[in-house]
Amino acid sequence: MQINGATALVTGANRGLGQVYARELVSRGAAKVYGAARNPAAVTEPGVTPVALDITDPGRVAQVAGECADVSLLVNNAGVLKYSTFIGAPDLAAARAEMEVNYFGTLSMCRAFAPVVAANGGGAIVNMLSVTSFYTNPLDASYGASKAAAWSLTNGIRVELAHNGTLVVGVHAGFIDTDMAALTDAPKVSPESVAQQVFDAVEAGQIEVLADDRSRFVKASLSRDPELIYPDVQAFWDAAIKATG
Ligand SMILES: NC(=O)c1ccc[n+]([C@@H]2O[C@H](COP(=O)([O-])OP(=O)(O)OC[C@H]3O[C@@H](n4cnc5c(N)ncnc54)[C@H](OP(=O)(O)O)[C@@H]3O)[C@@H](O)[C@H]2O)c1
Repeated sequence: MQINGATALVTGANRGLGQVYARELVSRGAAKVYGAARNPAAVTEPGVTPVALDITDPGRVAQVAGECADVSLLVNNAGVLKYSTFIGAPDLAAARAEMEVNYFGTLSMCRAFAPVVAANGGGAIVNMLSVTSFYTNPLDASYGASKAAAWSLTNGIRVELAHNGTLVVGVHAGFIDTDMAALTDAPKVSPESVAQQVFDAVEAGQIEVLADDRSRFVKASLSRDPELIYPDVQAFWDAAIKATG
């Protein structure tokens, strides 16, 4: 699909990658860009129309799908990362919160907007996933589980919506330079680079974006993950445990 002249909605558009997605859509000539956020007053990007939306509120998701009935490109960007382990976490609160936003919130948006996007010519749905959709790192284990679930949903709806002519794009990246990755000084890809790759893919009809070297390496290693991925993860974890006592 062409972004020039299209109407798009981006979730989590008030900051980080979502704000950059919205900016890139405006710069590519989108006719209208809805910037959805829990606090719409925080959506300050020029040319972007604020919309109040918490993606974990199914009633509000349904309302927004009705109010924004001209959308042909949905960008499911909103997400949370709690840096929570499976075993060491004190309880299931972080795991549930991540699943609620990253999986159920994204699923809820896809279900509400699939008919809207279809009615507007087929269009596209972009789901912001992660390199952790592909493998588990104990430091952000339950986040990875939620992104693996969101990867599964992305692959499933692509099949289910093919008859509508809807392109479904899964986007994977390691660290991106936003608030979410502020705790680490590991290499990070810029949100501008991710946004450009994603909308190039949408315009070219590509179903997957591997936005950095880490996600390209991990995806290419999946068939041999016990030997190519997990020894490094174990070594990293052992070093982290040793450093923190
Ligand atoms: N940064 C990374 O290293 C990285 C890597 C791979 C994938 N990702 C993914 O990229 C996406 C964007 O993340 P980011 O890096 O821009 O993180 P960020 O700076 O922490 O921004 C997260 C955005 O999601 C919004 N959000 C959270 N819960 C929401 C909810 N229930 N309803 C609506 N909006 C909600 C936040 O809104 P509030 O301001 O209201 O909290 C914020 O706008 C996420 O899906 C993330 O998992 C990030």
